[in-house]
Amino acid sequence: MPTIERYPSKSHARRVAKHFSGLLPDAFTDDKPRQILLLAAARLKYWPFSDQAQPFRQNRNFYYLTGCDLPDAYVLYDVELDRLVLFLPPVDKEDVMWSGEPITITEAKEEYDVDEVLYADVIKSELQAIPNRIVYTAESLVGDDHRAYLKDIELLVQLQSSDQYLLEALEESRLIKDDFELRLMRKASEISDNAHLKVLSTMSLQTNERHIHAEFVYHSMRAGSKNQSYDPICCTGRHCSTLHYVRNNEEIAGKQLLLIDAGAEWNNYASDVTRTFPISGEWTPEARAIYELVLEMQTACESLVKPGAVWDDLHLLAHKILIRGFLKLGIFKGGSEDEILESRVSAAFLPHGLGHTLGMDTHDTGGRANYADSDLLFRYLRIRRKLESGMVVTVEPGIYFSPFLIDPYLNGHDGFKGGHYIDRDVLEKFWEVGGVRIEDDVLVTDNGSENFTKVPKDPDVLSKIIKAGLKKTLVTV
Ligand code: GLY
Ligand code: MN
Ligand code: MN
Repeated sequence: MPTIERYPSKSHARRVAKHFSGLLPDAFTDDKPRQILLLAAARLKYWPFSDQAQPFRQNRNFYYLTGCDLPDAYVLYDVELDRLVLFLPPVDKEDVMWSGEPITITEAKEEYDVDEVLYADVIKSELQAIPNRIVYTAESLVGDDHRAYLKDIELLVQLQSSDQYLLEALEESRLIKDDFELRLMRKASEISDNAHLKVLSTMSLQTNERHIHAEFVYHSMRAGSKNQSYDPICCTGRHCSTLHYVRNNEEIAGKQLLLIDAGAEWNNYASDVTRTFPISGEWTPEARAIYELVLEMQTACESLVKPGAVWDDLHLLAHKILIRGFLKLGIFKGGSEDEILESRVSAAFLPHGLGHTLGMDTHDTGGRANYADSDLLFRYLRIRRKLESGMVVTVEPGIYFSPFLIDPYLNGHDGFKGGHYIDRDVLEKFWEVGGVRIEDDVLVTDNGSENFTKVPKDPDVLSKIIKAGLKKTLVTV
């Protein structure tokens, strides 16, 4: 046995098969053909008209069943025999000069938790050797290039309709993380914590949003994380109201707040963390008021994370706290909390959902979002189910002052109601706040929750760290 614990792909394969059999109840009975699950790795792609490879990102479903980060590989799981076979891409001798020696079969057997390792050029004969087989693959949903290849080697059978079931089985399996996955996610979070702290404490160095981006990536990479979970969002001033702002190229002088939403990845597992703070270390009264409100929303919602909690209810609570806070601040007026909630005008300031599942994908599987929901308050909510132990979710309320989002309410455009509850004069004082989001990564445990994210978020602590950093003379290298 290898001394280093391996990514538990065999137990993942069993989980997927179990979910799959639940979805296709008659699929695994005695008189049915042998069930084979087959998945392909992502292919290495080249930029158009170029011999440069695009950055490689593994197919997450393939990784879940192999722990293997190689392109152009395949995995087969024979459900009846409980046999997991990894097919490595055949060795391209010409490529060794450019890319180095590929992993050998013997090395791969050590490294991956599979029963057999073969080269991909024997997939067809391997499958042909299985009597009375039927092959299920979800790949038709993820890429035509694979589909063409599989068809070519006569693997794709008629079961189009099962693709959706296999994909669902993969998604449901991935939703609940095992201990090994949680260790990877804690590590990703630790790296992000450190990189966020470095950003907070080096503001004397930073004059442009791009510097913030660089600082975060630098410290992630130094800690061993080659990839970010997503393109970092580093915005200042009014740009903080753009939810997925990635231009990251404005000077930061003269702005009130900086919002950084960035997360390092560890072995394909994501973290996703947002902090918002005053660039000078001093909060303006308006920025502080909005920050404290978002923190109250986050604290209240996070305290309710536990098995059985209904995510819709937590999201609704965030809106209720926002409405109560806006009535106190005078941004809302002329209605009761219930009337204002009913009008849905709070969605002008909190247009996104409270959070999403987190795993290998930043917006991970299993949330069962309903983007066709006619209720604006829930349309972008990415989790529409009860929480279960082993799920990892983000808790990320925000408040944004975006003319693009608010004007339709103020102007009473079709479908956007409740604009009359907004006091335009009071609102005027808040445009420069731009936006505030606070985002932590939270594991649902048997008894409650565990917050992976340790970056400070108390407004006074943030001020202190920023000011201490501003006093230091730092030099870039
Ligand atoms: N970083 C993207 C998100 O928070 O969902
Ligand atoms: Mn998020
Ligand atoms: Mn985020």
